[in-house]
Amino acid sequence: MIIVSTLPELRRARARIIGSLGLVPTMGYLHRGHLSLLQAAREQNEHVAVSIFVNPTQFGADEDLEDYPRDIERDLAALEAEGVDLVWTPDNAEVYPRGYQTCVTVEQLTRGLEGARRPRHMRGVTTVVTKLLIAFTPERAYFGQKDAQQAYVVRRLVADLGLPVEVVVCPTIREPDGLALSSRNAYLNTEQRRAATVLFRALSAARAAFAKGQRDGDELRALMEDIVAAEPLAAPEYISVADLETLQELQQLPEQALASMAVRIGAAALIDNMVLGKA
Ligand code: PAF
Repeated sequence: MIIVSTLPELRRARARIIGSLGLVPTMGYLHRGHLSLLQAAREQNEHVAVSIFVNPTQFGADEDLEDYPRDIERDLAALEAEGVDLVWTPDNAEVYPRGYQTCVTVEQLTRGLEGARRPRHMRGVTTVVTKLLIAFTPERAYFGQKDAQQAYVVRRLVADLGLPVEVVVCPTIREPDGLALSSRNAYLNTEQRRAATVLFRALSAARAAFAKGQRDGDELRALMEDIVAAEPLAAPEYISVADLETLQELQQLPEQALASMAVRIGAAALIDNMVLGKA
């Protein structure tokens, strides 16, 4: 496994890779969700590359950039065990050179959900993902459905900019009790960890109601709000039933929709989603 930190080193290492390359962009503190992306990348490509970079521009001033969990030694050991070919671990100055002033913005798709809750977040994501796609020039790049808006926004930017990469969105990986895997789950104490299943419970209830024929967006949102409200440790930030293409809130649901939410539990702002209707 080749580990590089500067952009020129990355370019030289990339140039030596012959055959298809799958990229898994990460912020480190890897868990089984990341490993599932790596496995998909390995199945579909001859080589696999990973970036580990806690991207400062996607954190708001009052967010958890400093506290975001990091364990580079453990991450590198896991990537070595997974047979990853190339890892880039840049520092901030490598990604954002002194005086940088160029950003990538996806307009409408970033306005709601995480974009509304975290004003600078989506622009930080789209900027760093564009830089990663340019730096690695992979054939395919892998994202988790857990960050649904991020995945759809990246698909949009790749189409809009005509980048020669296929965006692959892989299913959310869950704990046995339904909690979606996330590096931020590390913030939860025992009581909060128990409460955190409320996201899965609320989304599952919406999915069951949809399967029984409920197509009223307000009813589905109210159903999820009631379940979250019954959990004393949970503070909802948004609860949404939105169009899968536009991410606009829906009143009357078509064949498919995206149910999603952000819920604060202690120090952790957890997000999760489910697609309602057949994939
Ligand atoms: O999902 C993440 O871990 C990050 O948002 C990403 C895609 C690596 C960009 O920093």
